[in-house]
Parts: sequence; C-alpha cells; structure tokens
Amino acid sequence: MTTLTEHRTFLRSALNRPTLLGAPVPTGSVLAAQIAGVVPASAPATVVELGAGTGALSPAIAARLAPGSRFVAVEVEPDLVAYLRAAMPWLEVLHGDAGDIGALLADAGVGPVDAVVSSLPWTLITAAERRRMLGGIAATLAPGGLFTTITTLTALPNRVRQFRSELEATFDEVTATKPVWRNLPPARLFVCRGARSC
Ligand SMILES: C[S@@+](CC[C@H](N)C(=O)[O-])C[C@H]1O[C@@H](n2cnc3c(N)ncnc32)[C@H](O)[C@@H]1O
Repeated sequence: MTTLTEHRTFLRSALNRPTLLGAPVPTGSVLAAQIAGVVPASAPATVVELGAGTGALSPAIAARLAPGSRFVAVEVEPDLVAYLRAAMPWLEVLHGDAGDIGALLADAGVGPVDAVVSSLPWTLITAAERRRMLGGIAATLAPGGLFTTITTLTALPNRVRQFRSELEATFDEVTATKPVWRNLPPARLFVCRGARSC
C-alpha cells in the first residue's frame, strides 16, 4: 500500500528527473504482486531489484523469499536511496547505476544471482546503455537464473519492439505476460531465462 509520503517523494523525483523515473507514480500493488510471483520462493535465493524507487515492489518480493535469501536493491537517484533507507531499513540498498551491476554486486559481496527484477524505464535509455545493462545482468545470473522487467503499454511501440529484440539477443527464452490494466500506466512483464554468454 503506497502512502502519501511515498507518492510525494516519487513525484518530486519524477518532476526533477522525468526520464530517469519514467513514470509519475510508483507501481501499483497488483503488478507488484505479479512481479513478486516470478521470483524463486521454494529455496533460499539471491534476488536483485534494479531501480527500486520508493520500494513499491520491494515488500512483495521480500515477503515471498525463503529464509536465508539475500535481497538487494539498486537505485541511482540519491533522494530515493535516502527514502528507501529510512522507510525500509530491512532492505539492503546499493546506491549506484544499474549499468554497473557487476561492480556494485562484487563490491557488496553478492554472488551469482537467481533473479534480477527491474522496473527501469528501458525505452527512455539509450540503446548503447541498454546493451551494457543487459550484458551486465546476463553476466550476474546463476545458471537457471531469470530476469524480469516491467514494460508499460504507454511506451512507444517501436522502442518496445527494439527492447524485446535486445532481450531476445541476450536470453534464450523471452515471454510477455498479459497486460495488467489495474496499474498506472497499464503494463506487462517480460520474463527472460537462459542468459547467453556475452
Ligand atoms: C519507473 S521507476 C520504478 C520505481 C519502483 N521500482 C516502482 O516500481 O515504483 C524507475 C526507477 O529506476 C531508477 N533508475 C533509472 N535509471 C537507473 C539506473 N541506471 N540505475 C539504477 N536505477 C535507475 C529511477 O530512479 C526510478 O527509481
């Protein structure tokens, strides 16, 4: 459940850095539950969330994880990092750029990752930076690991097609879920498995 403070914090960052945030409000609870449902839950797992924002996805993910799991959030916007650290002291937050995922996780001693979860605004990121991020994500995944990301239905269709083809160049299997209409904006997930070596 999002609070007024969370909404205010998110909106302030979105107004200051619209292309970094890519949305006016945090992800809603229906989509958060769907993305949490993709992470491994039957055994201890290492899960990394890229672009945690105000933590709209984080409690749902944390609630699903088995005891002994490690859950790490990466966020680049300093105000949001401060918000997360104050509002969710149980969450391990790394301040940095998702493009540097390999170095960030190595510095924090995070080993091979079972699931990377993202709500980064992919279609607002340059193609070169997307490729760097996807290469880094693929390289951090353990064998059998998965990557899942939110894609909004309001994103430009040609950019979504381009992003999907980049996902297909990075992973053996890419599936799209049905749209979640009860989200602002409506969105779907891409779920990717079988990282190819880059
Ligand atoms: C659409 S918001 C989603 C926030 C939150 N996960 C949610 O679902 O409400 C995208 C988030 O990704 C963060 N972000 C954008 N580019 C990033 C990057 N290169 N590295 C880390 N975080 C990034 C933004 O600051 C923002 O918090």
